Amino acid sequence: MRQSAAAVAVVLALLAAAAAVAMVGAEPSPPPEYTTQEDVTSDFVKQVCKFAVTMFGLGHRVSIYYVSTSQCWSKPAGDGANYYWAVLTARNSSGATGKYVTTMWGIPGSESRTWKLYTFDSTY
Ligand SMILES: *[C@@H]1O[C@H](CO)[C@@H](O)[C@H](O)[C@H]1NC(C)=O
Repeated sequence: MRQSAAAVAVVLALLAAAAAVAMVGAEPSPPPEYTTQEDVTSDFVKQVCKFAVTMFGLGHRVSIYYVSTSQCWSKPAGDGANYYWAVLTARNSSGATGKYVTTMWGIPGSESRTWKLYTFDSTY
């Protein structure tokens, strides 16, 4: 009895440790249909992700500023447009940074007012 209780405790401790590892540094993976990896150092991806942050800030009346992009993937949407899925870091007015997953639709090279922000979610 005592031994099985100890075994359960060990298993629970291992599960907790595994969960902690999974939480820290967890970098989301793109949905499987997003197969084209975009260059996160490109001006294009920076502009696209800045657009997402700006639109989210306007829509929610919060001050939020683009910091960086860690992943960006696309999939064709037809008529020269793509869907974009990105993981980005943004900072609020008190300086706290957060990681967000965003999805957008747009035609590369077109004006930003033709772009659409679909989702913008905190990863925490
Ligand atoms: C900034 O983000 C932090 C962490 O999420 C939060 O606690 C704080 O209230 C935010 N500050 C503003 C001004 O939104």
